[in-house]
Amino acid sequence: MVYDTIVIGSGPGGYVAAIRCAQLGMKTAIIERYNTLGGTCLNVGCIPSKALLDSSEHYHNAEKNFTNHGIDLSGLKLNMPQMIARKNKVVADICKGVEFLMKKNKIDVHVGHGTLTSATTVEVVGEKTVSLEAKNIILATGSKPITPASFNYDKKRIITSTEALDIAKLPKRMSIIGAGVIGLELGSVFARLGTQVEVIEYAGSAIAGMDKDLGKELTRSLKKLGMKFHFNYMVKEVTATARKTKLVAEHKDSKEALVIDADYCLVAIGRRPYTDNLGLDKAGVKMDERGRIEVNEHLQTSVPNIYAIGDVVKGAMLAHKAEEEGVFVAETLAGQKPHIHYHLIPGVVYTWPEVAAVGLTEKEVQEAGTPYKVGKFPFRALGRAKASGDLEGMVKIIAHKETDEVLGVHMIGARCADIIAEAVTAMEYRASAEDIARMSHAHPTFTEAVKEAAMAATENRAIHM
Ligand code: FAD
Ligand code: NAI
Repeated sequence: MVYDTIVIGSGPGGYVAAIRCAQLGMKTAIIERYNTLGGTCLNVGCIPSKALLDSSEHYHNAEKNFTNHGIDLSGLKLNMPQMIARKNKVVADICKGVEFLMKKNKIDVHVGHGTLTSATTVEVVGEKTVSLEAKNIILATGSKPITPASFNYDKKRIITSTEALDIAKLPKRMSIIGAGVIGLELGSVFARLGTQVEVIEYAGSAIAGMDKDLGKELTRSLKKLGMKFHFNYMVKEVTATARKTKLVAEHKDSKEALVIDADYCLVAIGRRPYTDNLGLDKAGVKMDERGRIEVNEHLQTSVPNIYAIGDVVKGAMLAHKAEEEGVFVAETLAGQKPHIHYHLIPGVVYTWPEVAAVGLTEKEVQEAGTPYKVGKFPFRALGRAKASGDLEGMVKIIAHKETDEVLGVHMIGARCADIIAEAVTAMEYRASAEDIARMSHAHPTFTEAVKEAAMAATENRAIHM
């Protein structure tokens, strides 16, 4: 049988592409080298990390914040094996959900490593070896953590996020290389539970790719949680014994050395596209200088019937970006003309307070020479924030100085991961700050900070400041 489409990789890019292809009437197969579907996101990424973030937040609140609400607890105890078991169950349930969706959409699942043998054939090496043929192929093979040789990644003491999600005995000390998304999310999990966490970061601030105000506020909050930061240090080497790790870093200007001993060292310095043994050369698929699969604006590779999506191509390494691209390619194959607004893909960091952003940062607007204005509103001035006790953070809206069009929205605070959807909707419809300022926002909610920031951006007329 010749499939209409074969998808290699079952992460949020691959499985969503397969479903959309099936919905559009294509006979579809998906190939996955692991026994569970869902890729990095479901198995060792978004879902397990958020499960542990939620559990650790409950623990932290019970330990530090309940008394203030008039709830006195005694005998509070951490049951880490149960926390991990719950996380595993959440993951297993969602992976089964994806399996169900494959069946429902009559998508053939082939378990094994897929290798292109030509532009239309894939060999799958699993329990058996099979050769599959298709008119079109979608590569959605995702990414793996970057682990330089000098960091001596051993999966036991020198670990990546994958192993960190399964630590069942709370470490006393953990060093983390990288104050990016993974370092701060997983650092928060362990710091909330009581681990002494030290973060070593090459850049001068945390989440350096986001608007500067967010990194500043988040660092302040995480320091209050007990996390320690060493900015402007480049980690040179990490070594481990059976129970300990030693990290050596160097200040980027003064060259001063920094040595940190810890029970675990978490390496969180980014991820690389994963194309090992994918047979790109056999099919004639080109890669770019950074090892990503090269694609054009239709996400088509150098071989016209082979497409690539998600972490393995350029752009943000985010699950929802991969999903959008999966739908995009399926619809393209069906002869439709889909579109993705890449600049409106939101970024979220699930720390507490949560951080979320969409559109241009203030620095990007400045660099582009665009005339702009800024409206800011702090959560502490909101009734809802006072009622819940979640006072940290703010919403910042950047709008064009003359047209008032919203160019970027950056926020840190309670529930920002969800609130950012309002900003995405507004920007998709090219709203002005005035448009947002005139929309009714339910009271009392955290979303009122968006309205107030929009009012601050238009003639500085925030009401509650
Ligand atoms: P992946 O999810 O990596 O899936 C690729 C799949 O392809 C894998 O299952 C792999 O086994 C399979 N595969 C690879 N090669 C082959 C082959 N040759 N044959 C067969 N199968 C193959 N993003 C967010 O948006 N929000 C978050 O909260 C978030 N949290 C994260 C937390 C952590 C700890 C990590 C590590 C990542 C997180 N991400 C998050 C990023 C997100 O997981 C990725 O952007 C997303 O999974 C990319 O999807 P993908 O489909 O491109 O690839
Ligand atoms: P990252 O790119 O977010 O951060 C890596 C950090 O490590 C950077 O700040 C960098 O300056 C620093 N660094 C690099 N080399 C260093 C060295 N030798 N010494 C000191 N610091 C060094 O990468 P991270 O956190 O590993 O995440 C990988 C990807 O996973 C991200 O691209 C992100 O998109 C995705 N992800 C998304 C999440 C979300 O959406 N909430 C959660 C977790 C991951």
